[in-house]
Amino acid sequence: MNNILKVIIVAGARPNFMKVAPLIQAIKKHNKELKSSNVKINYLLVHTGQHYDIGMSEVFFQELDLPRPDINLEVGSASHAVQTANIMIQFEKVCLDEKPDWVLVVGDVNSTMTCTLVAAKLGIRVGHVEAGLRSFDRTMPEEINRLVTDVLADLLFTPSEDADENLLREGISLDKIKRVGNIMIDTLISNLDKARENKSHEKIGVKAKHYAYVTLHRPNNVDNRLSLSRILECLCRLSRALPVVFPVHPRTRERLEIYQLWDKAHTTSGLMLTDPLGYHDSIGLVDKAKFVLTDSGGLQEETTFLNIPCLTLRPNTERPITISQGTNKLTSLDTLEQDLNNLLNGYRPNGRIPELWDGKTGERIVQHLVQ
Ligand code: UD1
Repeated sequence: MNNILKVIIVAGARPNFMKVAPLIQAIKKHNKELKSSNVKINYLLVHTGQHYDIGMSEVFFQELDLPRPDINLEVGSASHAVQTANIMIQFEKVCLDEKPDWVLVVGDVNSTMTCTLVAAKLGIRVGHVEAGLRSFDRTMPEEINRLVTDVLADLLFTPSEDADENLLREGISLDKIKRVGNIMIDTLISNLDKARENKSHEKIGVKAKHYAYVTLHRPNNVDNRLSLSRILECLCRLSRALPVVFPVHPRTRERLEIYQLWDKAHTTSGLMLTDPLGYHDSIGLVDKAKFVLTDSGGLQEETTFLNIPCLTLRPNTERPITISQGTNKLTSLDTLEQDLNNLLNGYRPNGRIPELWDGKTGERIVQHLVQ
């Protein structure tokens, strides 16, 4: 007779879907190879509905072969307080009905922090995947989400040594910290062939290694007219020398429209705006880009793994390993033009793939859970 461990896995926003996919794969594999003395894991996938557009959510379920969520809280967009409150009210009911042994949360979005808070108050154990990352910048909502999640979680699954050090400095006990590697890279490794077969750059009409790939959606960059228009000017100038492929996040699109910058962006030849892309298209385009400009967390890691030069338009990063070991560099509005020119002129950083970015992170997490 097996023991049963009941686990709720939470996903809410776009970057979460790539992180829960390997967990579910690893649980399925564990259950399939079960020996009679082992613990079987019964999981439920809860989607908070923080992201709800087809292009921000559904497409990832299809591409990553994710099961339909067992429960969708359908909270949608709102202010941080309203969104947090709505998730709390609904997720508490789910926990009371389902009585899980563990709640597993991933990343640093509002859904991550909120479900952790609910579970911790009900005395349900929480595992946080991608724990310990710190930008030390509390103007970022994600930093607040990371701090709250990590102080409450019972198991902290970290991607790298710097994350362990951050947690220890904050007084988290060593026995809670499990360095398991980078979960995003599990998904990247298992989908890379498919992404390459897609040849998305050919469909868009750009030549391999002869375009820049750009994604920008952080409030600090896009929720301010002056910075968004300066970024756009830079991109327009860049696009005269090199085609720029820029899938536009809904927040960024809304801001471009409000600030009346959309028409300029849309009519600049060489600046190729698209709707948000699915996972395979996005990875395929990163893989064949000359370089990437982004403010996303995930892209800093994906470019490091794929050895593609990356400029991150932020004053800091919670992923310093992508700079110390990978191909990432921070830039600002004042240095952007120069940094882009250096890359245009052929500058390439030396990078290597960090330890434990090996595609086996999901399996290591499952081993810790059943122990
Ligand atoms: C959220 C995460 C961020 C992550 C990003 C990836 C938080 C605090 N932020 O930011 O860490 O990098 O997701 O996308 O959790 N919208 C849609 N359709 C959707 C989702 C959003 O149109 O499916 C629009 C809405 O106008 C919404 C805005 O985008 O108000 C912002 O969405 P929100 O989830 O609040 O934050 P993101 O900027 O996406």
